[in-house]
Amino acid sequence: MEQFKYYAPTKILFGKNTEAEVGKLCKTQGASKVLVHFGGSSAKKSGLLDRVCGALQEAGLHYVTLGGVVPNPRLSKVYEGIEICRREKVDFILAVGGGSVIDTCKAIAHGAANPETDLWEFWKKRAVLTRSMPVGVVLTIPAAGSEMSDSAVLTNAESGEKRGLNTDLNRPVFAILDPVLAATLPNHQVACGVSDILMHTLDRYFNPVTDNALTDELAEALLRVVLEYGPAAVRDAHDETAMSEIMWAGSLSHNGLTGLGGRKDFATHQLGHALSEKFDVYHGDSLTAVWSSWARSVMDADPARFARFARNVWHVEEADDTAAALAGIAKQEAFFQSIGMPVRLGELSCGKQDEAGLADLASRCSYGKTRTIGTFRVLDYEKILAIYRRANEA
Ligand code: NZQ
Ligand code: ZN
Repeated sequence: MEQFKYYAPTKILFGKNTEAEVGKLCKTQGASKVLVHFGGSSAKKSGLLDRVCGALQEAGLHYVTLGGVVPNPRLSKVYEGIEICRREKVDFILAVGGGSVIDTCKAIAHGAANPETDLWEFWKKRAVLTRSMPVGVVLTIPAAGSEMSDSAVLTNAESGEKRGLNTDLNRPVFAILDPVLAATLPNHQVACGVSDILMHTLDRYFNPVTDNALTDELAEALLRVVLEYGPAAVRDAHDETAMSEIMWAGSLSHNGLTGLGGRKDFATHQLGHALSEKFDVYHGDSLTAVWSSWARSVMDADPARFARFARNVWHVEEADDTAAALAGIAKQEAFFQSIGMPVRLGELSCGKQDEAGLADLASRCSYGKTRTIGTFRVLDYEKILAIYRRANEA
């Protein structure tokens, strides 16, 4: 086990109707004027937005609203939010939505607290963030795990870059997790969410540190639970039992717990971000389209690790490590297919790529050949390109 620091300060309120508490929670955090931020139409249509605003009013809080966040959220919306915070003297930001809304809120909070610095400088690591404003969350989709994570991912449409910022200042002060709020989700969004939740733990589990028993067991338990309940949640988003398990797993999968003492890999996430950056595909789709190609390409770095995954998560009984490892990867890939997720580039909306397209993806992913990704196996431009090529095969 390696050294680690664990900081998970987010207060969680889990269960039916917990969103009624949102006014009190904001008040406890010292809020007086709240920016209520949301996405396209779902929170309005379901009546959630009205209920949230009603709860704020009841708690004696003032608020302003701003909607219009799109999946793969854009930097331009953040600037809009920062301007509202300045004009309206907002002192608390409330996200009503999923990863895209939450990440935009985190960015607005940083921008509003640092008016002298252009926000994108933090995402480009040219400026260091030292202060922010408090963000609370009413979660409507179990997926990104942003409600407890230290991360925020934005797309700068002008520069054409999708980038993440990791800092403890990204951790929300509270998150309300009511699985019933996810009942209006389309099946494919639930499938994207289930896949992302699995990937947040898989991208931690496959790493070079192997003497890490408790963390590995926690990771395997989380994966087994999501594999068990995920299909039911995808079939019927009203299935409260299944959605409850998925929603709680979503928060724990990306708050750091399932990778403590290890060395985060996250290569699949980086491979996926280049796809979303170029083609604006959903985050979940971008991950499953490359995962099995990544896995088959890196497996020989430690076949025993993949064999352990196959046996402990997929109950594979093969005695030989390489055979077990390959069987585990095939089962995971079949699972993604069974819930309607793409497992090849050709199954994404962008379709199969030509060689120039693959080279462009590898260049984006390696930031123009200036960085490597991953820890389980360190991947440079050439290795990244080979994985995209593999994912492009029929
Ligand atoms: O905009 P609305 O109308 O609300 O529709 C949204 C959106 O179209 C819809 N939706 C959400 N809740 C709903 C609902 N529709 C009906 N009923 C509901 N209850 O779902 C669609 C997707 O929403 P989005 O917020 O984009 O989903 P998700 O939570 O998957 O977030 C994806 C974003 O988070 C980033 C991704 O890269 C992507 O930009 N990530 C953020 C992370 C973090 N901050 O820690 C980690 C992740 O790895 C990820 O990178
Ligand atoms: Zn993710």
